[in-house]
Amino acid sequence: MSLSTPPAPLPVEPPAGCPFDPPAEFARLRADEPVSRISLADGTQAWLATRYADVRAILGDTRFSSDTTLPGYPLSGMTGGSTTSRHRGFIRMDPPEHTRLRRMVTREFMVKRVEAMRPEVQRITDELCDRMAEAHAAGEPIDLVEALALPVPSLVISLLLGVPYDDHDLFQRLTGTLLSRTVTEDERAVAREELRGYLHHLVLGKEKQPGEDILSRLIVEQEQPGELTHEDVVSFAALLLIAGHETTANMIGLSALTLMQDRETADRLREEPGLVRGAVEELLRFHSIIRNGPRRVATEDIEVGGVLIRAGEGVVTAVPSANRDQEVFEDADRLDVCRPNAQHHVAFGYGIHQCLGQALARVELQVVIATLLRRFPDMRPAAPVEEIPFRTDMAIYGCHSLPVTW
Ligand code: HEM
Repeated sequence: MSLSTPPAPLPVEPPAGCPFDPPAEFARLRADEPVSRISLADGTQAWLATRYADVRAILGDTRFSSDTTLPGYPLSGMTGGSTTSRHRGFIRMDPPEHTRLRRMVTREFMVKRVEAMRPEVQRITDELCDRMAEAHAAGEPIDLVEALALPVPSLVISLLLGVPYDDHDLFQRLTGTLLSRTVTEDERAVAREELRGYLHHLVLGKEKQPGEDILSRLIVEQEQPGELTHEDVVSFAALLLIAGHETTANMIGLSALTLMQDRETADRLREEPGLVRGAVEELLRFHSIIRNGPRRVATEDIEVGGVLIRAGEGVVTAVPSANRDQEVFEDADRLDVCRPNAQHHVAFGYGIHQCLGQALARVELQVVIATLLRRFPDMRPAAPVEEIPFRTDMAIYGCHSLPVTW
């Protein structure tokens, strides 16, 4: 392609009538131009990697940086946002600082720790389902996103961060505003500041009187000996909150809708609940909700898939495309909850930034899906699928709302 012709924009729209599928253009790119030039919304250009092997090669290579302040970083994905923020969180940092900070919380998200939370996740889910059943019995319309998909991760993360029960309403309101599509950018900025202010006070309280939660442990083990500042602890709280909230919520909504549409698979999972774990992996692969990322910028000239990416050039790794790569996943566009290698998906990323909260996300998804299948076998969308508002406008795919009935 000539340098003067701007390349095609990053594909974002699912094929008409197939809201669960990634843009059709990805299949062509994987076949013909697996590392291709694209234009981003802000007019800058970057590379787009669409094959599984190339996506893993990029995410597994620390010469590709996550630092959004570096020139050439392709902004506006999951890791996009302000280039100047001092409060980036380690998701936007490189080693050695990334390694140092991530290590401080790795233990909290290990499988064994997270498995111990399963009864709590079940209790939270059961209570929300009870409320949903009551509201339905009273003839109220139910939006599954508002009633279950958003509150489960929100309540779980508040539990981890040690948000006092009395603050839940405020915490929910602020995170709700941040995630809402009906607010303006200014309103969102105000909510972000208010949330940071809230987290600042939360951390101040824990500095005076530490409790049994992640933030208190960070204060006692890292802040008090001088390894972290107060602001660092606030940034940890903000990162965990934001990274763990909208992602899981959207996966819950999409998974529920998929199983309402695919009765055969739903019946099979109800009969054999042991299959739910594998089904969650397949749903993560199939939906790949991080629709246009993760993103990186090359710090050296690096060859990927036969293409030379120069130092200072940005790269968008198309996880939804990698997870539909026929070279790795047979009949990749089909949802198959018994797929033997579904767990090899890259929905949680790959390499040093691979999702820290993946064990927790898995437990939440497994509990919620199994509970919905058991308690609401007749649940169905209360509107035609064409009328469900899908988040084609957002970095994280899902449904803005999901009206259901039974
Ligand atoms: C289905 C749910 C989730 C999905 C699909 C998801 C996806 C991802 C992806 C793709 C990355 C890599 C970003 C990159 O390489 O730049 C990531 C990183 C991260 N995720 Fe998740 N995530 C989910 C849930 C969670 C939860 C529940 C938490 C925690 C409470 C969490 C915390 C994080 C953190 C802290 C990072 C940064 C890790 C690092 O930079 O070392 N995520 N996530």
